[in-house]
Amino acid sequence: MNETRSYPRHIRSDAGDIEFRLMSRADEAAVLAFAQKLPSHDLLFLPRNISQPKVLSAWINEIERGAITSLLAVKDGEVVGCGTVVRDPHSWSPHVGEIRMVVSLDVRGAGVGRALSQETFALALAAGLEKMSVQMTVDQQAAITLFEGLGFKAEALLRDHVRDVDGKTHDIVMLGHNVAQVRAQMEAYGLPGAVQH
Ligand SMILES: CC(C)(COP(=O)(O)OP(=O)(O)OC[C@H]1O[C@@H](n2cnc3c(N)ncnc32)[C@H](O)[C@@H]1OP(=O)(O)O)[C@@H](O)C(=O)NCCC(=O)NCCS
Repeated sequence: MNETRSYPRHIRSDAGDIEFRLMSRADEAAVLAFAQKLPSHDLLFLPRNISQPKVLSAWINEIERGAITSLLAVKDGEVVGCGTVVRDPHSWSPHVGEIRMVVSLDVRGAGVGRALSQETFALALAAGLEKMSVQMTVDQQAAITLFEGLGFKAEALLRDHVRDVDGKTHDIVMLGHNVAQVRAQMEAYGLPGAVQH
């Protein structure tokens, strides 16, 4: 999925220099440390709890299988964010990619999430995906703001869809972006290349 974008890349954020690079098995311990520091509420949008070593190991297997591409945001050698594109070429939605993103509490509000969402979106575009989806608990305002800014629109609200460690349920909102349709519209308006990487 990553052959058309090259890494590492560096960006300047309010938290300093951030490196974006692809995640591999060598990052297992660093990503586990990152995940275990996140508030568990911030992991509710994920299908599995990535702060558990077994889940992380399965995630890396999926990266090696090619079903998942994950980008790490690294600051001074420490993982401070992760943006992921998940797809299933053997399902009825081979053209759809799901984006998942999380940033460590220490660097929130410094623009890392914005840059990571753009880079992850670009990666999904470069992979030729036609539609993208993203989901989060409804209180993740920063995430909703970021993805709406990229052109995502609300498509579904799933009530009481996830249950937290205290047994409380939360609603999930799903946003979608029909990239192929936007690209076709831009071409119709004479703007070819406007949504290319
Ligand atoms: C979503 C997330 C990755 C954003 O990371 P971040 O590094 O803090 O993002 P940024 O610093 O780039 O800020 C993003 C934008 O959201 C805005 N924002 C931040 N908190 C907000 C809030 N409570 N309400 C509304 N907007 C908010 C910021 O103002 C910023 O917009 P601006 O650049 O126009 O000012 C982070 O909040 C997170 O990890 N959340 C938990 C995981 C999650 O739910 N992910 C969503 C699933 S994809």
